[in-house]
Amino acid sequence: MLAGKRILLIIGGGIAAYKALDLIRRLKERGAAVTPVLTRAAEEFVTPLSVGALAGGKVHRALFDLTDEAEMGHIQLSRVADLIVVAPATADLMAKMAGGHADDLASTLILATDTRVLIAPAMNVRMWQHPATQRNLAMLRGDGVLTVGPNDGDMACGEFGPGRMAEPLEIVAAIETALGGGPLAGRHVLVTSGPTHEPIDPVRYIANRSSGAQGAALGAALVALGARVTFVTGPATVPPPPGAHVVQVETAAEMLAAVEAALPADAAVFAAAVADWRVANASGAKLKKDGSGRAPALEFAENPDILATVSQMGPGRPRLVVGFAAETDDVLAHASAKRARKGCDWIVANDVRPATGIMGGTENEVTLVTADGAEAWPRLRKDEVARRLAARIAGALQ
Ligand code: C5P
Repeated sequence: MLAGKRILLIIGGGIAAYKALDLIRRLKERGAAVTPVLTRAAEEFVTPLSVGALAGGKVHRALFDLTDEAEMGHIQLSRVADLIVVAPATADLMAKMAGGHADDLASTLILATDTRVLIAPAMNVRMWQHPATQRNLAMLRGDGVLTVGPNDGDMACGEFGPGRMAEPLEIVAAIETALGGGPLAGRHVLVTSGPTHEPIDPVRYIANRSSGAQGAALGAALVALGARVTFVTGPATVPPPPGAHVVQVETAAEMLAAVEAALPADAAVFAAAVADWRVANASGAKLKKDGSGRAPALEFAENPDILATVSQMGPGRPRLVVGFAAETDDVLAHASAKRARKGCDWIVANDVRPATGIMGGTENEVTLVTADGAEAWPRLRKDEVARRLAARIAGALQ
């Protein structure tokens, strides 16, 4: 799918620049045309000669190269590509992009382009975690810039953590997705996530400890495979996945309405921790102590079961409906019973006893229950669980 595509590859100045050589090779193998641009700092890490040899063409280097400007102005250079890829995207390049600087060829091309831009950040862990970099990242994503990585791992500087550039093949996959490829291209997947808040009065509500981390990771993994994702989320503590269409709700009733409005979908995954009950006699005014020592009598009404409603909706039902089961005991038996009761296709079951640290934590240990039986997955980071599940969903929708 990359055959004939034109990639403008901006190589930033970081140790990960050597991986850009492999990236060029992988892109060329797939038939893409790669036009490389080296920043001055990048030339300290890779030579224009090796980059040019691999790309099989001219390497663009300095802004005021008069020959270049005569042959192809930098504005035109920025526009003839199908995608601009920045790899490695250093903290400095990201800051320049976020600030709209144009003081060298790379930053000028990025500012002048009307083509989409994909960045593969690579830097020291602390630089990545610095509020300034995170602020720049949020701004860039808000501007529609696509990202791949960084990954966790050992770094050239001897530290460990997020900051390693994504591997060349991951960048290739992200490029394919950005150009409309990916196994879920053309598919619509609905995801619910986060807790719900059920009001008691205008200032108080009933909630639960769901952070929304697993749902957000799943949304991101589905976007990465090319899906159009509608992400219906309660008030979660983690941000929603970039690239998804986000619908913010508070209550279970609002979540059901948002889900129904988002259908049809090819698949729907219900990762939200929906309150089973709402306060039937919620007060329109703040409840006050009346001095009698008596607590207000709250009455509860059952909330709609969104997963069961969609699973059993008949015509218009998504082809694949996936539910989650957070259990504290006899996980497998409860999950299998839940799958049958709700009428969904798969249940992703996990053990949320406090000792597991799963609720609100970064890891998850799940069992996937399908019509074919139960499959126990090892304990994995939530984003890895998400990637595996997204890949399974892509397989099921083939
Ligand atoms: O019945 P239980 O709450 O354990 O079921 C969990 C699964 O059902 C999750 O996938 C959750 O998102 C979904 N659910 C729902 N609407 C509800 C309750 C649960 O969609 N009211």
